[in-house]
Amino acid sequence: MNIKLENNVIGLCSDHAGYELKEIIKGYLESQGIAYKDFGTHSIESCDYPDYAHPCALAVENHDVCAAIGICGTGNGIAMTLNKHQGIRAGLCWEPELARLTRAHNNANVLVLPARFIAPELALQIVDVFFSTDFEGGRHQRRLDKMPVS
Ligand code: RB5
Repeated sequence: MNIKLENNVIGLCSDHAGYELKEIIKGYLESQGIAYKDFGTHSIESCDYPDYAHPCALAVENHDVCAAIGICGTGNGIAMTLNKHQGIRAGLCWEPELARLTRAHNNANVLVLPARFIAPELALQIVDVFFSTDFEGGRHQRRLDKMPVS
């Protein structure tokens, strides 16, 4: 994996539905020598994704981590929560080309994965593509500049 983002610490957050995939991703990051900070959850016990998404989003906004991965069952709940933060652009990706475009066109700083809809092997491919792709800038930056609600 070739991390293109500012530093090499990746934040991780999930609910119970994403816990097992989060653990698999941790193993993959370790195998690649990539540091991470795990904001939980820490078991398969039922929990509420905002409790883990908000601290992880704040860490991205504060540059404690360079980017993050958020995981829940569908990906939607945790993506909606993360995207409440002004400094977050979280994109839900279920296949590698979406991950490439979400970085190249949207400069996403959080990859969101739907744990109940993708196999772990595919999830790791998506992670790899997401963190290997640069933002293209240009016309896409103009569009990002128009995103905030004034
Ligand atoms: C948990 O059962 C599930 O609702 C959650 O992981 C997520 O899919 C919500 O968006």
